[in-house]
Amino acid sequence: MDFSELKNNAEKELEKIIDSKELKGFSDKYLGKKGEIRKFFSFVKDLALEEKKVLGQEINEFAERLESKVAEMEREMKVADTKDKEENEKIDVTLSGEKIETGHLHPMTQVRREMENIFQLMGFTVVEGQEIEDEWHNFDALNIPEGHPARDALSLGKTFYLKGGNVLRTQTSSAQVRYMKKMKPPIRIIVPGRVYRYETTDASHEINFYQIEGLLVDEDVSVANLKAVLQRFLQEFFQREVEIRLRPSYFPFTEPSFEVDMLCTVCNGKGCSACKRTGWVEILGAGMVHPNVIKNGGLDPKRYKGFAFGLSIDRPTMMKYRINDVRLFHSGNLKFLKQF
Ligand code: DAH
Repeated sequence: MDFSELKNNAEKELEKIIDSKELKGFSDKYLGKKGEIRKFFSFVKDLALEEKKVLGQEINEFAERLESKVAEMEREMKVADTKDKEENEKIDVTLSGEKIETGHLHPMTQVRREMENIFQLMGFTVVEGQEIEDEWHNFDALNIPEGHPARDALSLGKTFYLKGGNVLRTQTSSAQVRYMKKMKPPIRIIVPGRVYRYETTDASHEINFYQIEGLLVDEDVSVANLKAVLQRFLQEFFQREVEIRLRPSYFPFTEPSFEVDMLCTVCNGKGCSACKRTGWVEILGAGMVHPNVIKNGGLDPKRYKGFAFGLSIDRPTMMKYRINDVRLFHSGNLKFLKQF
């Protein structure tokens, strides 16, 4: 190959180069240590002196030109590259953004906190019990001895027993005696939390649900206090006047015991499908703390009296938001949850 052919080829190739990768390839091919130009030098060294001089100079000049041309192109390409990048990364602040979805608290958590706030305003302290409970606190301490029918969690066979004899608490009432022992009267606590019962699930039953236990122990406590506290609570919670009635009932840990009904908020007592045509909706269980329970709490039942109540969180939430299936709470169904 003669030198002018090499020059021609190199110049043609250089014209066609469009990016820095090609430029690097070109530079290696012609100007590299094993490149075409070096190869030519080795050929030149065998020529006659005069020829060597002329051609050598020509090659040197060409190599220099090529080198500076490559360097210049390199610079240009770098500038173009960063311009490109800036162009691509430009932020158009007028474009509408991507919406970041934020979650929110579960409706039942919202309601639980609402309930806690109302009771706190009435001087109650929020405390926690424990979901894994021993049988004594869940039953015996609450005046439910072994063999008592209520031992099955107030109806047949509904207690989850754990290996080793503990149970998943069937009621937040199990915290009553724990706190009586821990605190000095006057005691005013609520215990929100999850309880477990072995149920066949349907629209109104789940194997776990939430309760709020209330306990007040002091020297001079009456049913009138109980009624006033509950009425005030329900009024604040439903944000309207409510009428309640106490119906005689039975719980081993209270005497007397009541079922507390609320005048149906759907029909105002006229009778509708929500209240099974009775005009009243059962809302919680309550009563005056049984002397045996006060005693189990380490207090003197002659001196101290108390009232207690147990309220589910699920049910009032369903009433407040007209939710017709308790299973929705644990479904993880966003269509349901997004409404709150
Ligand atoms: N523990 C009862 C239940 O789970 C509810 C209850 C009733 C709690 C009366 C009380 C009470 O504190 O006095 O059904």
